[in-house]
Amino acid sequence: MSSKPTLHSRFPTPPASGNIVWHHATVVRARREAQNGHRGAIIWFTGLSGSGKSTLAHAVEESLHQSGCRTFVLDGDNVRHGLCGDLGFSAKDRQENIRRIGEMAKLFMEAGVIVLTAFISPYRADRERVRGTVEHGDFLEVYCDAPIEICETRDIKGLYKKARAGEIAEFTGISSPYEAPEFPELTVNTGTTGLDDCVQQVISEMMRRGIVSATEFCGENSK
Ligand SMILES: Nc1ncnc2c1ncn2[C@@H]1O[C@H](COP(=O)(O)OP(=O)(O)O)[C@@H](O)[C@H]1O
Ligand SMILES: [Mg+2]
Repeated sequence: MSSKPTLHSRFPTPPASGNIVWHHATVVRARREAQNGHRGAIIWFTGLSGSGKSTLAHAVEESLHQSGCRTFVLDGDNVRHGLCGDLGFSAKDRQENIRRIGEMAKLFMEAGVIVLTAFISPYRADRERVRGTVEHGDFLEVYCDAPIEICETRDIKGLYKKARAGEIAEFTGISSPYEAPEFPELTVNTGTTGLDDCVQQVISEMMRRGIVSATEFCGENSK
């Protein structure tokens, strides 16, 4: 059998290698989630470089971890050191980058983990493709909405300066497009709102959607 009934998909399954058969696990996602006491999910942070994706994703992870949740952050630069180290920044490579990250995030989620991804992921279609590979409710798009002027003022990696000087080609927001989400599950004004507030907004949205429960934040697991 070539179908993958444990991974629901609204998009066609990408072509698989020949002569392969899906092996069904006995320890399925629901059992892992029951053991963890919370759902697995993909929290997908998107926004311009410097908008605060990494900062917010790690701060949310810290809060979740301290409350006893199983978490992992997939971060842009780190992934490009290894799994996606062969990819550049053309639209085609960015698409492949997000496809691989989406597949990886899905595996983490199947493992019962709350996976937080911090990638510019500038193209709407690429993000929607990831959303389409998982069940409704599994993918929370969090738009880190900070104006480019603020991101450029922060310029914590000095990349905007280099991009303005023409030293970096295809830099998002300057020489490459950023397509803001049309219907994100949550928009956080990371340009003007303090980090603690932003963290609380994300956690509240996760509670509202039943990914974690209030008891996790004041129950016996929390430290
Ligand atoms: N509310 C906020 N949320 C996230 N980052 C913020 C916020 N306010 C200020 N910052 C700062 O903005 C910068 C964002 O950098 P970073 O998280 O690396 O962005 P990105 O991962 O989107 O490129 C950091 O220096 C961080 O301290
Ligand atoms: Mg980052």
